[in-house]
Amino acid sequence: MLEKIIALIKEISAFSVNNSEELELFRLKYLSKKGLISELFEDFKNVPVSDKKEIGQNLNLLKQNALEKYNILKSNLSNSEETDSGFDFTRPSHLYSLGTRHPISIVRNELIDIFTRIGFVVSEGPEIEDDDHVFTKLNFAPEHPARDMQDTFYISRLSTEDSSPEDILLRTHTSSVQVRVMQGQKPPIRTISPGRVFRNEAISARAHCIFHQVEGLYIDENVSFADLRQTLLFFAREMFGKDTEIRLRPSYFPFTEPSAEMDVSCKICGGKGCNVCKHTGWLEILGCGMVHPNVLEACNIDSKKYTGFAFGMGIERAAMLKYGVNDLRLYFENDIRFLDQFKTTL
Ligand code: DAH
Repeated sequence: MLEKIIALIKEISAFSVNNSEELELFRLKYLSKKGLISELFEDFKNVPVSDKKEIGQNLNLLKQNALEKYNILKSNLSNSEETDSGFDFTRPSHLYSLGTRHPISIVRNELIDIFTRIGFVVSEGPEIEDDDHVFTKLNFAPEHPARDMQDTFYISRLSTEDSSPEDILLRTHTSSVQVRVMQGQKPPIRTISPGRVFRNEAISARAHCIFHQVEGLYIDENVSFADLRQTLLFFAREMFGKDTEIRLRPSYFPFTEPSAEMDVSCKICGGKGCNVCKHTGWLEILGCGMVHPNVLEACNIDSKKYTGFAFGMGIERAAMLKYGVNDLRLYFENDIRFLDQFKTTL
């Protein structure tokens, strides 16, 4: 019997299993009620008393070894099943592709960057505005067509016939922020106001009912048209390149006098004339002028002491010129193929 026990101890120590079925076979063979070890315990009853001590010790050792072996085999198996979960740890990792900033955000940030370098600070105003800040204080005549329901989204209007300074509307331009800044601060004022604006327009490649503008305002003693021109030349060259030229054409806005529109030399043809600039060599980029004395007075700024300039430009338009985008709708469609092309740190 002793030889049998020692043979089983050796057999068990050499035993290995590859899966849970084989482990179960191990348990049945050695450890179950009808297994070999139970059988030996049955036979032990017939062992002569003189051999009982030695055989008993070895039989206990066999049982202990078998139990330990079973536990080790079981835990090895469950570890290897965990690692065998179908996940290949040696596979090369794949990096998540980074998102990009929207081109409108890139150009807005660039505009802010350019103007803050020459002392302008950013200010913001509400998108839901009143007629007073959008039109009346900016010297719009009561019957001005911009106040028409056809052009402006109204939230509430006191009368369907006439507009009133208390009417609530979606701002049609960021010039409303200059009114708020002038009402709240004393000159010198140097500010730019980026923001979203709304106009009642049919959506097409060239127009949208929601778009973005940046408004600029500089009020101090002795601010002249030459200051305006030089500031805008600096901006154009920073934004579109060192060789960019500008030209100012006389124009009309109710809130500036004199008023002008600014063109930049066409980047695509270098001013020679192409399809983009309609063979003129110039691209229109913004409106500007000297702040009308009526506007200064409406905002409690002494128009005898102070003068100032203002300008306003569409961010979509600036981005179109910078990137050669020819359809405004692309900015709003969230097409990843379009957005993926704009990689920048700004
Ligand atoms: N508010 C004008 C617009 O939406 C743009 C503009 C023109 C702003 C001339 C100005 C300015 O400050 O001086 O078309």
